[in-house]
Amino acid sequence: MHITVVGTGYVGLVTGAALADFGLNVSCVDSDEQKIEALSSGRMPFYEIGLKELVNRNLANGRLTFSTDLEAAVRASLTVFIAVGTPDLPDGTPNLTQVDSVVAALAECMDDYKVVVTKSTVPVGTARRIQRLLTGKQRRPVEFVVVSNPEFLREGSAVEDFMRPNRVVIGAESDRAVAIVKDIYRPLYLNETPFVITSLETAELIKYACNAFLATKISFINEMANLCEKVGADVHHVARAMGLDKRIGPKFLHPGPGFGGSCFPKDLVALARTGRQLEAPQRLAEVVMEINRRQKERVFSRIKAELGGLERKRIGLLGLAFKPNTDDIREAPAIDICRRLLEAGARIQAYDPVAMPNSRKVLNDKNVVYCPDAYAAAAGVDALWIATEWNEFRNINLNRIKSVMQAPVLFDSRNVFDPEKVRALGFRYFGTGRPGPPH
Ligand code: UDX
Ligand code: UDX
Repeated sequence: MHITVVGTGYVGLVTGAALADFGLNVSCVDSDEQKIEALSSGRMPFYEIGLKELVNRNLANGRLTFSTDLEAAVRASLTVFIAVGTPDLPDGTPNLTQVDSVVAALAECMDDYKVVVTKSTVPVGTARRIQRLLTGKQRRPVEFVVVSNPEFLREGSAVEDFMRPNRVVIGAESDRAVAIVKDIYRPLYLNETPFVITSLETAELIKYACNAFLATKISFINEMANLCEKVGADVHHVARAMGLDKRIGPKFLHPGPGFGGSCFPKDLVALARTGRQLEAPQRLAEVVMEINRRQKERVFSRIKAELGGLERKRIGLLGLAFKPNTDDIREAPAIDICRRLLEAGARIQAYDPVAMPNSRKVLNDKNVVYCPDAYAAAAGVDALWIATEWNEFRNINLNRIKSVMQAPVLFDSRNVFDPEKVRALGFRYFGTGRPGPPH
């Protein structure tokens, strides 16, 4: 079967390459010529574990091709996945311009029965809107069906998540389209991956419900962490004991500086907005966002308070990405908090294994120095702050770090280190949700 995937961002590229690996013939189409040229020669536009190998393997066997020619790809395909970006507008609503322009182009070039699948996270009602737009804009009407097939990929394990999903959600109102999409995912079906077949609106809402719930777990544990600090309890033990209750589950209970990334913040805003518009307020989602904002604020205030002000203070920053194993800095707490530290007069020496080039684009400030490693970032600083839990930080030589710092103050937003061990080395150590330094 031939498939077109429009958009070679995170979602589109992983989807296209993985479907080619399932044995399908996939054309990945993007309007960005440079991106297509790079991808055709095996160069990735972003870092994602296992993706380069997946793309190159399927480029080599000829099942995966990259092109800017939407029309040719669509004519050869039975199914078209829409995976273009849906960034936030200033008012928090998702910008559907990219989706709309793809839909307009599809209406022009669909020549036969097509299944049009939305992969991007889009507000509830978008699939039906696409259906209307396509019907209205088609010059030579051909039969088509719109399907909602939300993705649940995590950056840093997107390939693995695609190959071994917990479930596949298919929102569609035609048995024929369901059969076609199921056939695309046949290798998973044979693996006994559960399929949830449902209406368009339900499928669209499932994605928001999942992300809002996961974000709620994080905000819950972050608030619990703040209370732990006050009463002298350890949030990790609280989370572990909670997680052992099968009704709660152990995942997404890691406290930190707040969640970031391209999905949770954006999807919460969209969900809250839909709720307000339709008079079914999503108060929990609203509060989760507020707690997340305050969590970042807390990190800033704590660093400021412990250093007795920030004017001309030098701070080493380890980790810029919104989480490890990605170079993505969208909505990264590290970047957000870093901006505030800079505004308050601090100077930053930053290091991240892969996110520095992206960070440079948004934090291009003479008071940010990008360093070749963690030791260089710690050299001469008044405090070291770990904002992202890259594995390589777990193994840094803390004695060496301490010897190059101006003062041995460590803010560990992700609880990478064992407080007792670090304190025994002579650091003033501040974790998240763990008992503070002895008074
Ligand atoms: C995706 C989804 O869109 C979003 O809803 C989800 O929540 C997270 O992931 P992402 O894949 O990260 O976003 O998007 P982005 O990196 O912006 O990539 C979109 C691509 O589509 C770009 O390469 C862009 O050039 C391409 N595009 C856009 C087209 O090919 N044609 C267009 O008309 C518009
Ligand atoms: C998320 C969803 O997990 C995925 O299913 C969806 O398709 C897209 O959004 P992603 O944004 O890639 O994936 O990352 P995720 O691993 O969920 O982490 C999001 C943020 O939450 C990160 O900033 C991370 O550091 C933070 N987080 C996560 C915590 O602070 N604590 C946790 O316990 C888990």
